[in-house]
Amino acid sequence: MVEIILKPALHQFDTCKEFADAFQLGEGDLILTNEYIYTPYFGRMGRKAHVIYQEQYGSGEPTDVMVDAILADAAKAGCRRIIAIGGGTVIDIAKVLAVSDGGGVDALYGQAPDLKKQRELVILPTTCGTGSEVTNISIMSRTRMGTKLGLVSPAMYADHAVLVPELLEGLPFGVFATSSIDALVHAVESALSPKATPYTKLFSYKAIEMILGGYQKIAAQGKEARIALLGDFLIASNYAGLAFGTAGCAAVHATSYPLGGKYHVAHGESNYAMFTGVLKNYMQIKQDGEIAVLNDYLAKLLCCDTAVVYDKLEELLDQILPKKPLHAYGVTEADLPEFARSVIVSQGRLMANNFVPLDEARVLKIYKELF
Ligand SMILES: [Fe+2]
Repeated sequence: MVEIILKPALHQFDTCKEFADAFQLGEGDLILTNEYIYTPYFGRMGRKAHVIYQEQYGSGEPTDVMVDAILADAAKAGCRRIIAIGGGTVIDIAKVLAVSDGGGVDALYGQAPDLKKQRELVILPTTCGTGSEVTNISIMSRTRMGTKLGLVSPAMYADHAVLVPELLEGLPFGVFATSSIDALVHAVESALSPKATPYTKLFSYKAIEMILGGYQKIAAQGKEARIALLGDFLIASNYAGLAFGTAGCAAVHATSYPLGGKYHVAHGESNYAMFTGVLKNYMQIKQDGEIAVLNDYLAKLLCCDTAVVYDKLEELLDQILPKKPLHAYGVTEADLPEFARSVIVSQGRLMANNFVPLDEARVLKIYKELF
């Protein structure tokens, strides 16, 4: 059994300038980023790297069409190192750039997991959620299949993951909220996974403690209180990434993908929509084992009785991001059986990590309860 995979070398710098100097950013580098991030932090450094702005290829989360267009332009640039500076979308695309040998996305899915690293990969996350800087998976919308699918390969690990809290200073509250709730879901799903180990749980539970503690401060002191906590949230999301990189995510992610794929709900928000609904159903099936450990842990952090722990958790999360029912995103009742089918057919990789097995009828029940 794999205890924990610790792949990229981890770095932390106070400023982008320190990072650029240490990594000798310049010729031969392809920087994949967004203009609103690159210009204020790197624009005036005058580095000779080739820069691609992801948003010029489409808005929102990655699709196979967007990634194919970026791969084609990146190939023309002919670089030896990929530097990803951005949120989940930029990071996911950069992982594909690192393994692309000139073929498109469909070909890579066909060859995975036997992909070869073609270029060195350095990742700087600019949200406090994905943890994706330390995992080897890239998620994109397969437009012809109508859902999101993960591309996974050992070759897709970054060589270096770099945490620079300065990059998070301009993060709007909404993005802070959805990305950090995503990190919380990573921590909880990896803690409950059958693949969890004493090592991954160390990171999962510490991330849960840091994120909920941060939320409690924000709930008590207001949104601005987050600014002093950004470094902590960046580390917590990285911890959660280390945990789910080995132990995996599960049903919350699996059931959120059809919602994100069809109605373009941002990843963190669609996870949040499914989060406590999935936990409550786990509890209906099995009340002992790791879920009892998790509930006790949450009860201590939330200063409440174990019996009401999910209600108290929802109350706290609601102060960070108000939770909406699925119909508020445009989901119709007719979608629900299709969503449930798609989860069973396409998301086996994630559903294998569920705390207890969930069949199609149970998945449909969860969607109906959250509708
Ligand atoms: Fe996630």
